[in-house]
Order: sequence, then structure tokens, then C-alpha cells
Amino acid sequence: MSNERKFSPETEAQFQKLLTRYPTRLAALIPTLWLGQEEFGHLDRTALAYVAERLELPMSQVVNTCTFYTMFTPVARGKFHIELCTNVACWLRGCREIQQVVEDELGLKHKQTSADGMFTYEEVECLAACDKAPMCQVNGADTYNLTPESFRELIRGLKSKG
Ligand code: FES
Repeated sequence: MSNERKFSPETEAQFQKLLTRYPTRLAALIPTLWLGQEEFGHLDRTALAYVAERLELPMSQVVNTCTFYTMFTPVARGKFHIELCTNVACWLRGCREIQQVVEDELGLKHKQTSADGMFTYEEVECLAACDKAPMCQVNGADTYNLTPESFRELIRGLKSKG
């Protein structure tokens, strides 16, 4: 294997376990992409080539699968990955005002990362919490019933952790 990427021993153990749980290597592709993203931070072409090698799959198949799902990223994200739902329930309940707070507090628009690497902001489709709209996720953790004030407080709290 000539790829410069390599799973850590812990990730390699998880990968080997995955291979026993799926009937084919193709079936293990998405969970292996997750492992790769966790291990390498993002899935650039080198990381995708490593996944393809390990699963003995064509690179085209790995790239096609990876680029279909928005939860996989080809570029490094900030320390805090903010995903704001802008789908219909969140839109009707005021996510536009939340977007304005992102612009005011962070100066970011959709898919931008702050220069200091602290924040990446993305607008996403429904995150299945419509009854608690508007909502967002930060590094995968949900926050519900946002108001401009509560979201501003959330952002300022994250800034203080920088
Ligand atoms: S529309 Fe925002 S969580 Fe469903």
C-alpha cells in the first residue's frame, strides 16, 4: 500500500470489526467513510484512496458515495461545526433571524470556515426535530427552540472555549 494515510491501531481494530459485521466490503463503505472522517478529520482524495484500497473498491465508487452525503466533508472543518436547519419548519419559525446572528457574530455564510479555524457554518436540510424548530447542531449535538438571543449566547459560549 503506497498511500500516506493509515488508520491508527484503535481505528484499525474498529475497521476489522466492521468487516465482520457486513456481508460485503461494499456494504461496509459508509461506516468505513465515517471511520476515515473521524481519523483524518476530513475525506480528501488521499483519504478516499485509502478507503478504496482498504475495501478493495474502485475509487469512483468511493468518491460517488462520499460526495452524495453531506455529512462527509472533503475539506477540514473548524473546531465547532455549526449546522443550522433552514428547512420549512425552521424557516417558518424564524431561522432567518438565526442566520443573521451567524453573520453578525461570526461573519460567515453557508459552508464558510472562520480564518482562525474555530467555526464552520453550514445550512442544512431537515434534522428531524421540526417540533422544536428552529434548531441547530454543533458538532452533532442538537439545540432546540432557538431564538436570536439564545443562539447568540450559544455562539459566544463557544467563542469563549477557543
Ligand atoms: S425543518 Fe428544521 S428540523 Fe425539520
